[in-house]
Amino acid sequence: MLSTIKQSVAAALRRMATRVRLARCRAPVRVFGADLHVGSRPRLWATERIEIGDHSYLGHEVSIETNCRIGRHVLMANRVALVGRRDHDFRTPGVPVRFGHWVGSERTPSPYRADAVVIEDDVWIGYGALVLSGVHVGRGAIVAAGSVVKNDVPAYTIVGGNPAVAIGKRYSGSDDIARHEAMIRSGTFQSSEKGFDHFIVRPGNP
Ligand SMILES: CC(C)(COP(=O)(O)OP(=O)(O)OC[C@H]1O[C@@H](n2cnc3c(N)ncnc32)[C@H](O)[C@@H]1OP(=O)(O)O)[C@@H](O)C(=O)NCCC(=O)NCCS
Repeated sequence: MLSTIKQSVAAALRRMATRVRLARCRAPVRVFGADLHVGSRPRLWATERIEIGDHSYLGHEVSIETNCRIGRHVLMANRVALVGRRDHDFRTPGVPVRFGHWVGSERTPSPYRADAVVIEDDVWIGYGALVLSGVHVGRGAIVAAGSVVKNDVPAYTIVGGNPAVAIGKRYSGSDDIARHEAMIRSGTFQSSEKGFDHFIVRPGNP
């Protein structure tokens, strides 16, 4: 009984913490789905837009520093970073990079201001991975811990390293992928701040 009360109080505090962290997000357009989790000390900033789909999880110290669309059921581990690839101009002669065009500047806006990262549904981005703007991470892909991702990641592909390259496939064939997706479409998923054992996970029928 006491442990149930403790779990419920802890869950309510974590939900509140997520709401506060999302409220501190700095972007002109912010679209947040239902049932999100945001870990401690995030940095959420973009010039135009940050969008995060239902049931996605952002670990501790996640840094979003570029426009992004993050899908549903996405798992971003601790210290993942989404970073603007060309957010400072370093090519104008006579201008130190410190004073060059920057995507966040109102006075000297950079042409790359609208660049974005897209992360489709059901993606896992491993601990400390860095994804540069312009990259599209396909549905169901896995990014290995510590990777630097500068190229698009095809759906259901596992990539790793710096620069990240394909190191495997999540499923062995398109039939398995179709079955997985059909089951997700008809399934029921709900996270719980009480912990893993409290998640509702009811995969549907293929
Ligand atoms: C990618 C990952 C899921 C492993 O996937 P897997 O299919 O089981 O891969 P394997 O361990 O069989 O490794 C396959 C190849 O990828 C390489 N590899 C694995 N992890 C790698 C990484 N982080 N960076 C670079 N290469 C990696 C392996 O060395 C192996 O290469 P090899 O065949 O030349 O020896 C795992 O390594 C990983 O990074 N998990 C993320 C963990 C994490 O961030 N946890 C935080 C909690 S959310």
